[in-house]
Amino acid sequence: MSQKSSVLCVGCTVIDFVTIVGSYPKEDTDRRCLDGFWQRGGNASNVSTTLSVLGTKVDFFGILSSSDAFRVLLEDLRRREIGTRNCPLTSRDPPFSSVILSQDTGSRTIIHCNKDYPQTTWEDFSKIDLSQYGWVHFEARNTIHTARMMQSIREYDQKTGQSTIISLDFETRYDQNLELCQSCDYVIFSKELASDKGWTTPRQTCEELASDIPSNGGQKPIIICPWGSEGAVCMDSKGNYIKFSSYQPEKVVDTLGAGDSFVAGFINATFEHQRGLRDAVDFANRVASRKIEGFGYDHIQ
Ligand code: FRU
Repeated sequence: MSQKSSVLCVGCTVIDFVTIVGSYPKEDTDRRCLDGFWQRGGNASNVSTTLSVLGTKVDFFGILSSSDAFRVLLEDLRRREIGTRNCPLTSRDPPFSSVILSQDTGSRTIIHCNKDYPQTTWEDFSKIDLSQYGWVHFEARNTIHTARMMQSIREYDQKTGQSTIISLDFETRYDQNLELCQSCDYVIFSKELASDKGWTTPRQTCEELASDIPSNGGQKPIIICPWGSEGAVCMDSKGNYIKFSSYQPEKVVDTLGAGDSFVAGFINATFEHQRGLRDAVDFANRVASRKIEGFGYDHIQ
Protein backbone atom coordinates (compact mmCIF):
# COMPACT_ATOMS: atom_id res chain seq x y z
CA MET A 1 0.00 0.00 0.00
CA SER A 2 1.34 3.45 -0.91
CA GLN A 3 2.44 5.64 1.95
CA LYS A 4 -0.08 8.38 1.19
CA SER A 5 -3.00 6.03 1.51
CA SER A 6 -5.25 8.06 3.81
CA VAL A 7 -7.58 11.02 3.59
CA LEU A 8 -7.55 13.72 6.27
CA CYS A 9 -10.83 15.59 6.90
CA VAL A 10 -10.43 18.93 8.68
CA GLY A 11 -13.41 20.57 10.38
CA CYS A 12 -15.80 20.03 13.22
CA THR A 13 -17.87 17.28 14.76
CA VAL A 14 -21.21 17.97 16.46
CA ILE A 15 -24.20 16.14 17.90
CA ASP A 16 -27.20 16.11 15.57
CA PHE A 17 -30.53 15.76 17.41
CA VAL A 18 -32.85 14.60 14.66
CA THR A 19 -36.64 14.86 14.96
CA ILE A 20 -38.88 13.29 12.30
CA VAL A 21 -42.24 14.93 11.65
CA GLY A 22 -44.97 14.37 9.05
CA SER A 23 -44.96 18.02 8.10
CA TYR A 24 -43.00 21.05 9.25
CA PRO A 25 -44.55 22.40 12.52
CA LYS A 26 -46.40 25.66 12.83
CA GLU A 27 -44.65 28.15 15.08
CA ASP A 28 -45.76 28.17 18.74
CA THR A 29 -47.61 24.86 18.64
CA ASP A 30 -47.06 21.78 20.83
CA ARG A 31 -46.74 18.60 18.79
CA ARG A 32 -45.46 15.04 19.03
CA CYS A 33 -42.91 13.78 16.55
CA LEU A 34 -43.08 10.49 14.65
CA ASP A 35 -39.63 9.41 15.72
CA GLY A 36 -36.18 10.75 16.54
CA PHE A 37 -32.56 9.84 17.08
CA TRP A 38 -29.24 11.51 17.54
CA GLN A 39 -25.94 10.88 15.82
CA ARG A 40 -22.49 12.34 15.21
CA GLY A 41 -22.71 15.13 12.62
CA GLY A 42 -20.80 18.10 11.24
CA ASN A 43 -19.62 18.45 7.66
CA ALA A 44 -16.07 17.07 7.85
CA SER A 45 -17.25 14.54 10.40
CA ASN A 46 -19.99 13.25 8.04
CA VAL A 47 -17.55 13.15 5.13
CA SER A 48 -15.27 11.00 7.33
CA THR A 49 -18.18 8.71 8.21
CA THR A 50 -19.21 8.13 4.61
CA LEU A 51 -15.61 7.65 3.51
CA SER A 52 -15.16 4.95 6.15
CA VAL A 53 -18.45 3.30 5.08
CA LEU A 54 -17.16 3.31 1.48
CA GLY A 55 -13.91 1.70 2.62
CA THR A 56 -11.50 4.64 2.40
CA LYS A 57 -8.96 5.01 5.19
CA VAL A 58 -9.66 8.34 6.86
CA ASP A 59 -8.54 10.49 9.78
CA PHE A 60 -10.55 13.34 11.23
CA PHE A 61 -8.85 16.52 12.42
CA GLY A 62 -10.93 18.76 14.66
CA ILE A 63 -11.24 19.60 18.34
CA LEU A 64 -12.36 16.67 20.49
CA SER A 65 -13.71 17.11 23.99
CA SER A 66 -13.29 15.33 27.32
CA SER A 67 -16.84 16.34 28.34
CA ASP A 68 -19.41 13.60 29.10
CA ALA A 69 -21.60 14.70 26.20
CA PHE A 70 -18.76 14.09 23.78
CA ARG A 71 -18.09 10.48 24.81
CA VAL A 72 -20.61 9.01 22.39
CA LEU A 73 -19.06 10.94 19.50
CA LEU A 74 -15.65 9.54 20.40
CA GLU A 75 -17.03 6.01 20.64
CA ASP A 76 -18.60 6.35 17.22
CA LEU A 77 -15.35 7.62 15.70
CA ARG A 78 -13.51 4.67 17.24
CA ARG A 79 -16.11 2.10 16.17
CA ARG A 80 -15.75 3.27 12.58
CA GLU A 81 -11.95 3.32 12.81
CA ILE A 82 -11.80 7.00 11.89
CA GLY A 83 -8.39 8.13 13.14
CA THR A 84 -8.25 10.99 15.64
CA ARG A 85 -4.61 10.88 16.68
CA ASN A 86 -3.92 14.47 15.59
CA CYS A 87 -6.92 16.04 17.33
CA PRO A 88 -6.45 18.57 20.15
CA LEU A 89 -8.69 18.28 23.20
CA THR A 90 -10.91 20.69 25.10
CA SER A 91 -13.21 20.19 28.08
CA ARG A 92 -16.03 22.25 26.57
CA ASP A 93 -19.42 20.74 25.67
CA PRO A 94 -19.65 19.92 21.97
CA PRO A 95 -21.62 21.97 19.45
CA PHE A 96 -25.00 20.54 18.52
CA SER A 97 -27.67 20.90 15.85
CA SER A 98 -31.43 20.57 16.17
CA VAL A 99 -32.61 18.99 12.95
CA ILE A 100 -36.18 18.60 11.72
CA LEU A 101 -36.80 16.07 8.95
CA SER A 102 -40.17 16.71 7.32
CA GLN A 103 -41.55 13.61 5.63
CA ASP A 104 -43.96 15.33 3.25
CA THR A 105 -41.37 17.55 1.56
CA GLY A 106 -38.20 15.61 2.40
CA SER A 107 -36.63 18.81 3.76
CA ARG A 108 -34.06 18.91 6.53
CA THR A 109 -34.02 22.06 8.62
CA ILE A 110 -30.88 22.57 10.68
CA ILE A 111 -30.46 24.98 13.58
CA HIS A 112 -26.87 24.90 14.68
CA CYS A 113 -25.60 25.88 18.15
CA ASN A 114 -21.89 26.40 18.47
CA LYS A 115 -21.26 28.63 21.54
CA ASP A 116 -17.76 29.52 20.33
CA TYR A 117 -16.46 25.96 20.56
CA PRO A 118 -12.73 26.22 19.81
CA GLN A 119 -11.37 25.50 16.33
CA THR A 120 -8.11 23.90 15.32
CA THR A 121 -5.22 26.25 14.65
CA TRP A 122 -2.37 26.19 12.18
CA GLU A 123 -0.05 25.45 15.14
CA ASP A 124 -2.06 22.24 15.85
CA PHE A 125 -1.96 21.35 12.16
CA SER A 126 1.79 21.88 11.88
CA LYS A 127 2.35 18.91 14.25
CA ILE A 128 0.73 16.48 11.80
CA ASP A 129 2.90 14.08 9.81
CA LEU A 130 1.61 14.80 6.31
CA SER A 131 3.45 11.91 4.67
CA GLN A 132 0.51 9.51 5.06
CA TYR A 133 -2.18 11.75 3.53
CA GLY A 134 -2.79 11.80 -0.20
CA TRP A 135 -5.88 14.00 0.13
CA VAL A 136 -6.75 16.70 2.66
CA HIS A 137 -10.35 17.92 2.71
CA PHE A 138 -11.28 21.18 4.48
CA GLU A 139 -14.46 22.92 5.57
CA ALA A 140 -14.44 26.60 4.59
CA ARG A 141 -14.16 28.12 8.07
CA ASN A 142 -11.56 29.64 10.37
CA THR A 143 -10.09 31.31 7.28
CA ILE A 144 -6.74 32.61 8.50
CA HIS A 145 -5.71 29.30 10.03
CA THR A 146 -7.15 27.21 7.20
CA ALA A 147 -5.23 29.27 4.63
CA ARG A 148 -2.01 28.65 6.54
CA MET A 149 -2.78 24.91 6.80
CA MET A 150 -3.23 24.75 3.02
CA GLN A 151 -0.05 26.73 2.52
CA SER A 152 1.93 24.29 4.67
CA ILE A 153 0.65 21.36 2.59
CA ARG A 154 1.86 23.08 -0.58
CA GLU A 155 5.24 23.80 1.06
CA TYR A 156 5.50 20.19 2.21
CA ASP A 157 4.78 19.00 -1.33
CA GLN A 158 7.45 21.28 -2.76
CA LYS A 159 10.00 20.08 -0.25
CA THR A 160 9.27 16.38 -0.74
CA GLY A 161 8.31 16.33 -4.42
CA GLN A 162 4.97 14.75 -3.49
CA SER A 163 1.54 16.00 -4.42
CA THR A 164 -1.34 16.15 -2.03
CA ILE A 165 -4.84 16.81 -3.28
CA ILE A 166 -6.68 19.59 -1.45
CA SER A 167 -10.47 19.98 -1.56
CA LEU A 168 -12.71 22.58 0.02
CA ASP A 169 -16.35 22.36 1.07
CA PHE A 170 -17.49 25.96 0.54
CA GLU A 171 -20.86 26.55 2.25
CA THR A 172 -20.62 29.81 4.18
CA ARG A 173 -19.15 33.33 4.37
CA TYR A 174 -18.36 33.91 0.72
CA ASP A 175 -16.22 37.03 0.93
CA GLN A 176 -14.18 35.77 3.84
CA ASN A 177 -13.54 32.25 2.55
CA LEU A 178 -13.02 33.03 -1.14
CA GLU A 179 -9.25 33.29 -0.72
CA LEU A 180 -9.11 29.61 0.32
CA CYS A 181 -10.13 28.46 -3.18
CA GLN A 182 -6.87 29.42 -4.86
CA SER A 183 -4.88 26.74 -2.98
CA CYS A 184 -7.32 23.95 -3.85
CA ASP A 185 -7.58 21.29 -6.52
CA TYR A 186 -11.34 20.97 -6.02
CA VAL A 187 -13.92 23.38 -4.60
CA ILE A 188 -17.34 21.94 -3.81
CA PHE A 189 -19.69 24.90 -3.70
CA SER A 190 -23.13 24.76 -2.09
CA LYS A 191 -26.41 25.54 -3.81
CA GLU A 192 -27.57 27.36 -0.66
CA LEU A 193 -24.61 29.74 -0.75
CA ALA A 194 -25.18 30.29 -4.49
CA SER A 195 -28.74 31.28 -3.69
CA ASP A 196 -27.52 33.68 -0.93
CA LYS A 197 -25.34 35.28 -3.59
CA GLY A 198 -28.36 35.67 -5.89
CA TRP A 199 -26.97 33.17 -8.42
CA THR A 200 -29.89 31.30 -9.85
CA THR A 201 -28.40 28.61 -12.09
CA PRO A 202 -25.54 26.16 -11.63
CA ARG A 203 -23.81 27.55 -14.73
CA GLN A 204 -23.97 31.11 -13.39
CA THR A 205 -22.62 29.82 -10.06
CA CYS A 206 -19.59 28.16 -11.67
CA GLU A 207 -18.87 31.18 -13.85
CA GLU A 208 -19.22 33.81 -11.10
CA LEU A 209 -17.15 31.78 -8.65
CA ALA A 210 -14.44 31.02 -11.23
CA SER A 211 -14.12 34.69 -12.10
CA ASP A 212 -13.90 35.69 -8.41
CA ILE A 213 -11.10 33.24 -7.56
CA PRO A 214 -7.75 35.00 -7.87
CA SER A 215 -5.49 32.93 -10.12
CA ASN A 216 -2.24 33.78 -8.35
CA GLY A 217 -0.29 32.60 -11.36
CA GLY A 218 -1.31 29.00 -10.67
CA GLN A 219 -4.09 26.82 -12.03
CA LYS A 220 -7.66 27.51 -10.93
CA PRO A 221 -9.42 24.73 -9.03
CA ILE A 222 -12.10 22.49 -10.50
CA ILE A 223 -15.47 23.74 -9.28
CA ILE A 224 -18.16 21.21 -8.41
CA CYS A 225 -21.73 22.25 -7.51
CA PRO A 226 -24.14 19.63 -6.21
CA TRP A 227 -27.56 20.98 -7.20
CA GLY A 228 -30.00 18.88 -5.15
CA SER A 229 -32.54 16.82 -7.08
CA GLU A 230 -31.29 18.36 -10.36
CA GLY A 231 -27.95 16.57 -10.07
CA ALA A 232 -24.59 18.34 -10.14
CA VAL A 233 -22.37 20.37 -12.42
CA CYS A 234 -18.68 21.04 -12.63
CA MET A 235 -16.37 23.43 -14.38
CA ASP A 236 -12.80 22.36 -14.97
CA SER A 237 -9.75 24.59 -14.84
CA LYS A 238 -10.04 25.35 -18.59
CA GLY A 239 -13.62 26.58 -18.19
CA ASN A 240 -15.28 23.46 -19.64
CA TYR A 241 -18.72 23.05 -18.11
CA ILE A 242 -20.22 19.58 -17.53
CA LYS A 243 -23.75 18.70 -16.32
CA PHE A 244 -24.71 15.51 -14.51
CA SER A 245 -28.20 14.18 -13.91
CA SER A 246 -29.13 13.02 -10.44
CA TYR A 247 -30.11 9.50 -9.46
CA GLN A 248 -33.70 9.45 -8.28
CA PRO A 249 -33.76 7.87 -4.80
CA GLU A 250 -36.29 5.02 -4.48
CA LYS A 251 -37.71 6.83 -1.48
CA VAL A 252 -36.83 10.05 0.34
CA VAL A 253 -36.14 9.13 3.98
CA ASP A 254 -33.37 11.35 5.32
CA THR A 255 -31.73 14.22 3.40
CA LEU A 256 -29.48 15.27 6.31
CA GLY A 257 -25.83 14.99 5.25
CA ALA A 258 -26.61 14.22 1.57
CA GLY A 259 -24.18 16.96 0.50
CA ASP A 260 -21.47 15.55 2.77
CA SER A 261 -22.05 12.08 1.31
CA PHE A 262 -21.70 13.56 -2.19
CA VAL A 263 -18.28 14.94 -1.20
CA ALA A 264 -17.21 11.59 0.27
CA GLY A 265 -18.36 9.75 -2.86
CA PHE A 266 -16.31 12.10 -5.00
CA ILE A 267 -13.18 11.69 -2.87
CA ASN A 268 -13.61 7.91 -2.71
CA ALA A 269 -13.99 7.58 -6.49
CA THR A 270 -11.11 9.92 -7.32
CA PHE A 271 -8.62 8.96 -4.64
CA GLU A 272 -9.34 5.31 -3.95
CA HIS A 273 -10.41 4.19 -7.44
CA GLN A 274 -8.56 6.73 -9.65
CA ARG A 275 -11.74 7.56 -11.56
CA GLY A 276 -11.74 10.57 -13.91
CA LEU A 277 -13.73 13.71 -13.17
CA ARG A 278 -16.93 12.62 -14.99
CA ASP A 279 -17.08 9.19 -13.40
CA ALA A 280 -16.24 10.55 -9.97
CA VAL A 281 -18.99 13.21 -10.01
CA ASP A 282 -21.44 10.64 -11.33
CA PHE A 283 -20.52 8.29 -8.49
CA ALA A 284 -20.84 11.16 -5.98
CA ASN A 285 -24.40 11.72 -7.24
CA ARG A 286 -25.15 8.06 -6.79
CA VAL A 287 -23.82 8.07 -3.21
CA ALA A 288 -25.88 11.18 -2.34
CA SER A 289 -29.02 9.55 -3.70
CA ARG A 290 -28.35 6.33 -1.81
CA LYS A 291 -27.79 8.31 1.38
CA ILE A 292 -31.27 9.84 1.09
CA GLU A 293 -32.90 6.39 0.98
CA GLY A 294 -32.16 5.60 4.64
CA PHE A 295 -31.44 7.17 8.02
CA GLY A 296 -27.81 7.86 8.88
CA TYR A 297 -24.96 6.56 6.74
CA ASP A 298 -24.53 2.82 7.29
CA HIS A 299 -26.86 1.74 4.47
CA ILE A 300 -24.87 3.65 1.83
CA GLN A 301 -22.40 0.95 0.89
C1 FRU B 1 -25.08 18.39 7.58
C2 FRU B 1 -24.37 18.91 8.80
C3 FRU B 1 -24.97 18.38 10.08
C4 FRU B 1 -24.57 19.44 11.06
C5 FRU B 1 -24.62 20.72 10.23
C6 FRU B 1 -23.54 21.68 10.61
O1 FRU B 1 -24.42 18.82 6.41
O2 FRU B 1 -22.99 18.59 8.76
O3 FRU B 1 -24.53 17.09 10.41
O4 FRU B 1 -25.43 19.53 12.12
O5 FRU B 1 -24.48 20.32 8.89
O6 FRU B 1 -23.69 22.86 9.88
